Amino acid sequence: MALAPFAFQRCIRPACGTTCGPEEVRTACPKCGDLLDVLYDWDRARPPKSLRYFEQMWSRRHEPLRLSGIYRFHELLPFATADSVVTVGEGQTLLQQSDPVGQFIGLKGGRLYLQYEGLNPSGSFKDNGMSAAFTHARAIGAKRAACASTGNTSASLAMYCAATRLMKAVIFIGSGKISYGKLSQALDFGALTIQIAGDFDDAMVRVQEVCRDLGMYLVNSVNPFRLEGQKSIMFRVLEALHWEVPDWIVVPGGNLGNSSAFGKAFVELKLLGLIDRLPRLAVINAAGADTLFELYEKRGLRWNAGRPDTSIVDRYYAELDQSGRKASTIASAIEINRPVNLNKCLRALEDMNGVVRQVTDQEILDAKAKIAAGGFGCEPASAASVAGARLLCDQGIIGPDERVVCILTGHQLKDPTATVAYHTTDQEQFNKVLGSRGVRRASFANRAVALPNDLGEIVKAIQLYS
Ligand code: F0G
Repeated sequence: MALAPFAFQRCIRPACGTTCGPEEVRTACPKCGDLLDVLYDWDRARPPKSLRYFEQMWSRRHEPLRLSGIYRFHELLPFATADSVVTVGEGQTLLQQSDPVGQFIGLKGGRLYLQYEGLNPSGSFKDNGMSAAFTHARAIGAKRAACASTGNTSASLAMYCAATRLMKAVIFIGSGKISYGKLSQALDFGALTIQIAGDFDDAMVRVQEVCRDLGMYLVNSVNPFRLEGQKSIMFRVLEALHWEVPDWIVVPGGNLGNSSAFGKAFVELKLLGLIDRLPRLAVINAAGADTLFELYEKRGLRWNAGRPDTSIVDRYYAELDQSGRKASTIASAIEINRPVNLNKCLRALEDMNGVVRQVTDQEILDAKAKIAAGGFGCEPASAASVAGARLLCDQGIIGPDERVVCILTGHQLKDPTATVAYHTTDQEQFNKVLGSRGVRRASFANRAVALPNDLGEIVKAIQLYS
């Protein structure tokens, strides 16, 4: 049996608490319809007594299990047996200190760390979750997998299908909604790519229907096994900090899978006595896709120990429908108005004393340019974390001495259109791509220099530059 007998799924609502086996393929509680967690009988799973246990894994990197940045921590997500996991070597990502970016945020030297998830094989953090979903999918014998995506989930799914040949990929994307870098990956990896007339929120509804009707395995983050893999991002952060808990984790919020997984990771580590406190969580929305900010910060929606006031959500979604408002941001990865993991994220915010902020496209692109100038390339959505940390510093919520980890979720080359438009000298291109989104300036632009093909002119320009 590939799935562990001590793993099970349980509804996140304490008052419901419906459980089912690890072999069941579900994206919602069969009784109340809320989300499911993958949980463990830890007495039987027997996790290590100290996080230092994982340090010995470095010497076992010849084993695919321990080379993987996910399964290096297998004992903390042990839903499948060690010999049955699916890995393509994901999770070889870095936590790097960055003083230039820290200074931009308003932090003192040595206090900012960037967790660079763009180093994953498909160029985004999604591979953390996809390897876990594939491990589960293989265990239950799935043959076809599907997702709706703003681009990175689809790239990751397509890559795992191509690399493992375990399943065929069917991806749903909103028409004109994903960046070229991501679309090119899905096409190149050979996924059946369905562009529907609509946006991500429309595609998300549709893919769930199609999966139900055709029995396809859904790999969006409503799949609780995906979030088990995404917990490992936090394990790697702790590993890089010598198992010291930082003060803040700052993450962009879209469908809210990451923030949910991070909350679960820290709660479990505390429960197991492996850490003594939880960091605070900041989830950053783009201003044009700010459902979590609106609900949490403006309308006071709280997890409320498992009894959130869902009428607040229903009312807000009805307002969105009535006004016909659609999510709109240059950070296309998080252009989402109806985050499927809302309730899990509310729980994480409660557990981690969290805050939510929104940042404009202008702030996102300026932060992105600063991150890149500091030597890290990322896509626009990722830069929301740094822009959000800057805002929180400005507001005095993050102190200049605090240790802050911003998650850079996706690679710089995912969305070259936004980057080139920011740095361009062509006002028409700037206006077309960015002006329409309220971006007025490119304060940190590095403009290309157009010169005649003339040695003297070229030498003059270089001397002027240096
Ligand atoms: N950053 C990037 C680069 C993403 O691709 C996503 C989500 C997020 C942040 C938001 O993360 O959903 O866990 O809150 N992208 C999804 C996709 C929705 O389809 O690729 P989240």
